[in-house]
Amino acid sequence: MLAFKKYRLPNLAQFRRISTTTRFCSEEPVVHRDSTDNNAATPFEFTQANMTRLAAFINSYPEGAQRSVLGAALDIVQRQIGWVPISAMHKIAELLSIPRMRVYEFASFYTMYNRRYKGKFHVKVCVTTPCMIMGSDAILQAVEQACCCTAGHVSADGVFGVEEVQCQGACVNAPVVAVNDDYYEDLTVCDIKGIIMTLRCGGIPRFGPQSGRFACEPIDGLTSLCGPPPPPGFGVQPALFKPK
Ligand code: FES
Repeated sequence: MLAFKKYRLPNLAQFRRISTTTRFCSEEPVVHRDSTDNNAATPFEFTQANMTRLAAFINSYPEGAQRSVLGAALDIVQRQIGWVPISAMHKIAELLSIPRMRVYEFASFYTMYNRRYKGKFHVKVCVTTPCMIMGSDAILQAVEQACCCTAGHVSADGVFGVEEVQCQGACVNAPVVAVNDDYYEDLTVCDIKGIIMTLRCGGIPRFGPQSGRFACEPIDGLTSLCGPPPPPGFGVQPALFKPK
């Protein structure tokens, strides 16, 4: 019979510190909760122009495939009133002849659909690693100060809504802030103040990189492709290259 030696388990906490970070919950609940301004009775109707657009989308798909219009239909609602109440989702389900659950799934999966009002100007501050390294903490602070509201909230006058978001796909121009459909890149705290002030006064700030570069080219000039391209066979072993 095997004899087990009795061990006293070491106290791991003596050897290493176990630490955890704060648990962040999504600002947007996955499930819908009825509220006074977002319930099945919330008034919503497509405008005539948007109804015409939606009909054009629907008619461009073969019979039975109208559910493919779902993303576009939600986008039309959001462009019309700034967000997507559940009553509008029901309207879409009815127009596309699909179960309401299909619309709920779609609208709650894609973060680009706002399921609550997020201000006339929805200011999305990217806080993922490249933007964080380039100073998104200071950018977020400046945005919160300029918009007079903290992340996850809408300002008292309803003009600005601030939100922390993950990568916006423009990391090479970090730090990045998106306001509605426009991107502002290569930002400094000073740029943020100017952009928010212009929006508040009814102007349209210049979007894109604020550093003076045109797109995402190196700021100090070309670092590659500086000369004519090498001829065919460049860098290939002579035995492997057969000129034509
Ligand atoms: S990390 Fe900010 S745009 Fe990609």
